[in-house]
Amino acid sequence: MKTQAPPLIPTCRFASAGEVGGVLCHCTGVAESSVHAMVQSGGVKTVEEVMTKTGAGTGCGACRCRINRVLDGLPAACGGRFDLCGGCGCISAICQCEAA
Ligand code: FES
Repeated sequence: MKTQAPPLIPTCRFASAGEVGGVLCHCTGVAESSVHAMVQSGGVKTVEEVMTKTGAGTGCGACRCRINRVLDGLPAACGGRFDLCGGCGCISAICQCEAA
């Protein structure tokens, strides 16, 4: 009888596993809800305005496509290369964890 190995615990040099959920920009910690509220109020219309007013997107830049999605009225999560890693919450493009 073969036993299964225990699941790997995600490790990442960028973030702890507790940072998943609601974060749009990993570098600055800006929440998706903050950007969504600004879009709904008409306070921002472009990625550049979001960057200036919130700081989101001013680090590595990997979340700018997620900002664009929120500006278009879509959820930030797209499941693509620049989405948040399900294992550690980092942007998948820069994530170094075992789950990515
Ligand atoms: S994740 Fe937003 S700038 Fe890096």
